[in-house]
Amino acid sequence: MPRIILTGDRPTGRLHIGHYVGSLRPRVQLQNSGEFDKILIMIADAQALTDNADHPEKVRQNIMEVALDYLSVGIDPKIATIFIQSQIAELTELTFYYMNLVTVSRVQRNPTVKAEIQMRNFEASIPVGFFTYPISQASDITAFKATDVPVGEDQKPMLEQTSEIVHKFNSIYGDVLVDPNIILPKNDACLRLPGTDGKAKMSKSLGNCIYLSDSEADIKAKVMSMFTDPNHLKVSDPGNLDGNTVFTYLDAFCNDEHFEKYLPEYKNLDELKAHYQRGGLGDMKVKKFLNSIIQAELEPIRNRRKEFEGNIDYVYNILKEGCAKARDIASQTLKEVKSAMKLNFFDNSEYLDELHKRFGK
Ligand code: TRP
Repeated sequence: MPRIILTGDRPTGRLHIGHYVGSLRPRVQLQNSGEFDKILIMIADAQALTDNADHPEKVRQNIMEVALDYLSVGIDPKIATIFIQSQIAELTELTFYYMNLVTVSRVQRNPTVKAEIQMRNFEASIPVGFFTYPISQASDITAFKATDVPVGEDQKPMLEQTSEIVHKFNSIYGDVLVDPNIILPKNDACLRLPGTDGKAKMSKSLGNCIYLSDSEADIKAKVMSMFTDPNHLKVSDPGNLDGNTVFTYLDAFCNDEHFEKYLPEYKNLDELKAHYQRGGLGDMKVKKFLNSIIQAELEPIRNRRKEFEGNIDYVYNILKEGCAKARDIASQTLKEVKSAMKLNFFDNSEYLDELHKRFGK
């Protein structure tokens, strides 16, 4: 069986370093591993509209921001197909059939949907489209026969629902759909990078994100004002690592070479952590180290982004070609699905033969 990756993001804003360590960087590694036969990356504008019906312009504008972020982190359009969800009509058709395989109470139990309903104060007025987006996400995944879906931990419930739909479909209609694997980030810090203020979630409205497109000065200001241990007042005080955002970021970003280059007094992060816990290591020094690392990682990304911004026709064509390619694949799967469901009345003589048997020629 060919190994196929499908993943995506809602275009509701520029991507930040939480997206970077949790999903973009691993995607580039998977892409460059050469282990996959096909890689598809979807800009999920239709899904973004399920809770942004009033803000179509925001979604429309962010499609290009996300595409630029993809290309600048190293997604290679020669290897990966980047496409826009709304352009693949087949996905909505699949969703309509899958809806019959899922109960309302099952969707209500989806923990991510539950949390999102609360976060958006939707309780009394949940848009039906939003409520059913996990089913549409099952279409996104199965339309491309994805075997592997690299996503953040919050997407686990979507993958579980997808598996259930796959099993139900295959048991009723025959083996057509592929049951996908989830690929989660390997390290805990990457799984859930907190905001610079130490809050669990990075969000635009909280102003606690470092964006991939932030300037050098912005990054520095954000790192220098990061949340650490509030009881670590004097350099000589012993410091606490729990919930200390600077160290969580180091867990996500730093390796031993960074020490050699920027902080040779220490061999590795364990040594630095031990010194901090013992006392005698100031926050400023650790923040400066983190700043050097993040700057080194984001500078080439920012520069590539500028290049792509100056070559927007090229990016436009990548999306256009990506959509055509994605549509070919999805329409092939939809054909198989409809034929398994015997909804292919005019594709062959089966239906007419059946009618002849019932009604005579
Ligand atoms: N739900 C994902 C998010 O909020 C986006 C998404 C839509 C997706 N369809 C997908 C991710 C299919 C993986 C596979 O970011």
